[in-house]
Amino acid sequence: MPEHSLPIQSLDPEKLPRHVAIILDGNGRWATSRGLPRIEGHRKGAEQLHDLFDVFLALNIPFLSLYIFSTENWKRPRQEIDALFQLLSFFIDENLKIFKKNKIRMIVSGDISPLSNAIQNKLNSAIAETAKNYLLTVNFCLNYGSRAEILRAAKDAILSIHKNQTAQDLTERIESISESEFEQYLYTKDLPDVDLLIRTAGEQRLSNYLLWQSAYAELFFTPVFWPDFSKDDIFQALLDYQKRIRKFGSI
Ligand code: FPP
Repeated sequence: MPEHSLPIQSLDPEKLPRHVAIILDGNGRWATSRGLPRIEGHRKGAEQLHDLFDVFLALNIPFLSLYIFSTENWKRPRQEIDALFQLLSFFIDENLKIFKKNKIRMIVSGDISPLSNAIQNKLNSAIAETAKNYLLTVNFCLNYGSRAEILRAAKDAILSIHKNQTAQDLTERIESISESEFEQYLYTKDLPDVDLLIRTAGEQRLSNYLLWQSAYAELFFTPVFWPDFSKDDIFQALLDYQKRIRKFGSI
């Protein structure tokens, strides 16, 4: 990795987060402030992901979740939605080799069924082709929203129990569902809880992102627009995380 103004050595390797989730915000504002079309912001935003992958691999941070497209993003103009998915398609074409070489596993959280067959096929084959990779899991959150995820999980849990239980012991069995059993119905069932949640571009809200998984996450907000979020900004967020005292409800 190239030199940075914040040296990697200033981080305590024992106190790094295992799972970082990012709300990549400000692509549109970054582009408009330069007189460019919004999609140019998304394009630069997608390029920035390489810096993240480099840093996470160098520091052995094993899980990264990225909010690429929310259930609410369908309200955007059709042209922007199409351009975003076209960008995603190019991104996979360009990066699959890099993912394989660097042992990066790609997974998706969200309901991809409304996406075109071509994109669904591309996503499914990238997921399958990288399934055995173990150094870094990148969780692409696509058509993702926490409330939809939790509601779907609740329905799936009850339906699956209903299928396997007799009517008499159904209530007792449903009452016995624990948090860890319920988590098996979330998209993120193979991922640990989020330790650090970063949102760029000055907004300080969670926007329906990984609400269950971030119950004890440390939050980091920065005014930097996503396309400008550099390696130094990642280090800054990690340094700030290391200063927090995590209590998980204890004293
Ligand atoms: C928010 O910026 C960003 C998104 C809705 C999409 C995130 C997408 C990327 C980082 C690029 C695409 C990545 C891949 C892998 C294809 P915004 O448009 O809401 O910005 P604004 O709030 O300034 O308008």
